[in-house]
Amino acid sequence: MPEKILVTSALPYANGPIHLGHLAGAYLPADIFVRYHRLKGSDIIYICGSDEHGVPIMLKARTENVSPQQIVDRYHEMNKKSFEEFGMSFDYYGRTSSTVHHEVSSDFFRTLAEKGEFILKTEEQLYDPKAKIFLADRFIKGTCPACSNPDAYGDQCEKCGTSLSPKELINPRSAITDAEPVAKETTHWYLPLAKYQKQLEKWIDAHPEWKSNVLGQIQSWFKSGLNDRAVTRDLPWGVSIPEDVAKKYNVDAEGKVLYVWFDAPIGYISATKEWAQAKGNENLWKEYWQNKDTRLVHFIGKDNIVFHCIIFPAMLMVHGNFVLPQNVPANEFLNLEGNKLSTSRNYAVWLNDYLQKFEVDSLRYALACNLPETKDADFSWKEFQARHNNELADILGNFINRTLIFAHKYFKGKVPEAGQTDNLDKELIDKIIHAPAALGKLIDNYQNRFYVRDLMELARFANKYFNDKEPWKTRNSDPQVCATTIHLCLQMIRSLSILAEPVIPNSVRKIWKILNISDNPNWNEAGQLKLQAGQQINQPEILFTKIEDEAIETEIERLKKAQTSSTSSQTPEAELESLITFETFKKLDLRVAKVIEAEAIKKSDKLLKLQIEIGHIKRQIIAGIAQHYQPEDLIGKKIIVVANLQPAVIRGNQSEGMLLAASNENQLTLLTVLEDIPTGSKIS
Ligand code: 2FM
Ligand code: ZN
Repeated sequence: MPEKILVTSALPYANGPIHLGHLAGAYLPADIFVRYHRLKGSDIIYICGSDEHGVPIMLKARTENVSPQQIVDRYHEMNKKSFEEFGMSFDYYGRTSSTVHHEVSSDFFRTLAEKGEFILKTEEQLYDPKAKIFLADRFIKGTCPACSNPDAYGDQCEKCGTSLSPKELINPRSAITDAEPVAKETTHWYLPLAKYQKQLEKWIDAHPEWKSNVLGQIQSWFKSGLNDRAVTRDLPWGVSIPEDVAKKYNVDAEGKVLYVWFDAPIGYISATKEWAQAKGNENLWKEYWQNKDTRLVHFIGKDNIVFHCIIFPAMLMVHGNFVLPQNVPANEFLNLEGNKLSTSRNYAVWLNDYLQKFEVDSLRYALACNLPETKDADFSWKEFQARHNNELADILGNFINRTLIFAHKYFKGKVPEAGQTDNLDKELIDKIIHAPAALGKLIDNYQNRFYVRDLMELARFANKYFNDKEPWKTRNSDPQVCATTIHLCLQMIRSLSILAEPVIPNSVRKIWKILNISDNPNWNEAGQLKLQAGQQINQPEILFTKIEDEAIETEIERLKKAQTSSTSSQTPEAELESLITFETFKKLDLRVAKVIEAEAIKKSDKLLKLQIEIGHIKRQIIAGIAQHYQPEDLIGKKIIVVANLQPAVIRGNQSEGMLLAASNENQLTLLTVLEDIPTGSKIS
């Protein structure tokens, strides 16, 4: 039986439109992979859908005074349509509000519960008595104990950067209703991940071929030690906890739902079930999910790594009836014109907006050239224009167009017969023969940037071949040679068109129509010279019209405006604090310190615990820098600290000082000294 391949792309939240960051992370790379495998004739299915649960969807509904269902209906339809127009070739695009998904995910939960894999914990959590919901830390606001900012969040003060817990806020209030939160006991089901760490480590150890950015993140989670993870929440929106399970545990199921990150990945399974139903073969999904040889590949962005490489696999292992992912080729982030993308500030390129202005294939190609496969990448409109104009239009389009025009003008629109071949002809034939395997290998290894680079190199070679062979001269001087040149150029167009299908499927279909090629060619056969002499060719059409500067300038301007309007209140002048006296400043005891030890803090993805040395004094400080520094990178570093800050307890840890860092919304960097100087030195 041929290998089964099951590909998924992260289910996007149905609370906003799709943007370029999404496409570069989890969608375009997957679509290239899937299209390539379909051309190879692989037994492959591609599953995606909308992630329709979670607090942000509920809050959006509340702000708009509509139901969460109305919100997800709106964005599910919008995103499904944009994806279709972008050429995403999903076999099925499901949604997690579907009945099948609710059944599948509560059954999954029931199975784990029946196996006794959960632990139950009762703890106090803050509750909004007005909205009648428990509040995640982010939804509690109050005055920062460190800098008196009245709008600090329950997890962090964005003004001074201090990491906080809701209990530390002065005058806490609900970010939803402004009501004062009350502490209330609640019971939840937890998955004790520590129990599965060894098994997970063994499984990951068997995959040294995974991308290093992915393995790096996984190892740092393992290093910090896996903790119990709550898999249920008190919310009015989501997949309800099955009554029978709650009863067995003696818990009131009322108002309790599965945590969105528990049910969402199960969405891959439920959507596959729906796909099988739609195909009229109820059990077909099992051939993929319940087959140990299935190559399951999850395409995601880097913010989803822990869920797809640790938590969901742990759930799958514990359940026992499903295959584990064979690879999770997560991409890094895509920035925009040098800045971090921000959906809330409208600093993004929205897919639905793009589709009204430019061609699909231009974006697919430009993005593919610059995917954040190994590190963050940047999308710029100028580069987009250059990729389209200088490569798609001037190289690929030009080669195809001049060959077709020549064939029509001098060979009555028929493929001419090839004669004797010279060295250059042989070189071109050789490239055609070897291209499918070479390009296919790159796609199979998730190296799409190299795939499109080498694809365009092939077109560049072909264009040069046309120039070097000078068919406009040989037409008179040596018609046989001219016929051979055009014959081989047409063969090359056919090969290029098949090999380019994964990245520019729309343009390729136009070429297939012109060459009278079937809609279902085979990837490997792109390495053969299959056009028959005498075969009729249709009239050419311009495949890529140049993109004018004006169109690009408009987009750049829009982004500049979005950037300045959102930062105008944060210009250095506007941000300057009110004046203080020198006496006040002198009260600050700023010192040079050295980091002796650094470690992550359990259950916190933001905090690091540092042991520092200030002269002969040793101190412990808790700093909210875990998303910017690895603990091991800090050891031995000289930093600047406020040495006379009143101690505070942060997440149960004593913090005796504060380090200084420069930050804006994109970056955080620790302050240090230019030349080496002993620790304890005073800063004035
Ligand atoms: O980060 C996100 O957009 C999530 N909605 C991805 C979910 S992926 C899967 F688990 F469904
Ligand atoms: Zn603060």
